[in-house]
Amino acid sequence: MKILAIETSCDDTSISIIKVSGKKNPSFDILSNIVSSQVKIHRKWGGIYPALAKREHQKNLVPVLIKSLKKAKLLKRNLKKVEDGKFKILKKTLEREQNLYNKLKIFLKKYEKPKVDFIAVTMGPGLEPSLWVGVNFAKAISYFWNLEIIPVNHIEAHIQANFIGKSSKNLFPAISLVVSGGHTQLILTKGHGDYKIIGETRDDAAGECLDKIARILGLRYPGGPEIASKAEKYKGKNVVSLPRPMMHTKDYDFSFSGLKTAALYNFKKQPSKTKEYIRAVCFETQQAVIDVLIKKTIRAAKAFRVKTIILGGGVTANKELRKQFKAKIKKELPHSQFSIPDSKYCTDNAAMIGAAAYFHWPKDKISWRKIRARANLRL
Ligand code: KG4
Ligand code: ZN
Repeated sequence: MKILAIETSCDDTSISIIKVSGKKNPSFDILSNIVSSQVKIHRKWGGIYPALAKREHQKNLVPVLIKSLKKAKLLKRNLKKVEDGKFKILKKTLEREQNLYNKLKIFLKKYEKPKVDFIAVTMGPGLEPSLWVGVNFAKAISYFWNLEIIPVNHIEAHIQANFIGKSSKNLFPAISLVVSGGHTQLILTKGHGDYKIIGETRDDAAGECLDKIARILGLRYPGGPEIASKAEKYKGKNVVSLPRPMMHTKDYDFSFSGLKTAALYNFKKQPSKTKEYIRAVCFETQQAVIDVLIKKTIRAAKAFRVKTIILGGGVTANKELRKQFKAKIKKELPHSQFSIPDSKYCTDNAAMIGAAAYFHWPKDKISWRKIRARANLRL
């Protein structure tokens, strides 16, 4: 079975074709996973500017679709004539995305329906204008090609990214930690589709905190990779000390806004902001985030006696976090399994949307007329 998956929840436009073999213990073959990043456009603003993100998704979706189909060897010229009547409904579906409609119309006349079984699309959570572009695009091609849609929860997809290239056997029950730019959640995961949020951030997400501290330090957006690369160069001089908020509380919640405020005060009172000082703040910020995430996740894994600790989300692409998690689990929970996606499937991508959708097929399929974007969707 082949799935065409679409992800536009934030500032990355991504389309993937995934091939699934095996039923109970499926394996995912990623035929293509094209991610077009808008990062350069948003850098000027120091963060994501929603109206710009919407405009860019409209511009990128058709070229990304072409690249993705071509890579998966599914792009075929159309030799039949398309009835003009079909474009009326298409136009109505994309009435708020005129630019996208114009590009899609040319594409649909030129290329034939690809041999895929259904469409998967992120319905939420995320930035509302960004989500709607992806959802309306999915609606349009679903109608035009007569394919069903599986709507996908973006957070669930960050968890399901763990099944790309690996066996999904015997992982459950698990504690999943999803850490991204918008979310920091600990989720008791008893099976595919069986989730209970046991803790989450009360203010900023961990990725958001890294992005904000990077901005204070004059570093580029997104802050996570910038902080990681400066932290790596830190030579141990110029020690900076920052708090580990809520690390010892009995619950499984997080708080990162205090870390950002502490970094801001430290920065303001520092008379000379040398290279080594900036590296020291980056090192300490990264370590503070890692310490809190590891402490709470291991506590949850012990309390719920799970088999596996699963990680997912953009922040878990962090090399130091991956290394320290692995070492700590080996030491404190030697009988537990540890699962983390390949780094390219940690940050936003459509392959994980396709993998998550597979576990909902066919029971959660929805007609293109009914699907809606839901910015505040919860697991
Ligand atoms: O999952 P994601 O790509 O998008 C959301 O769903 O939000 O996560 C983006 C977040 C950003 O805050 C970014 O700074 C952070 O992930 N990030 C990293 C790294 N790569 C991305 N943080 C730390 N280290 C990294 N290597
Ligand atoms: Zn994400």
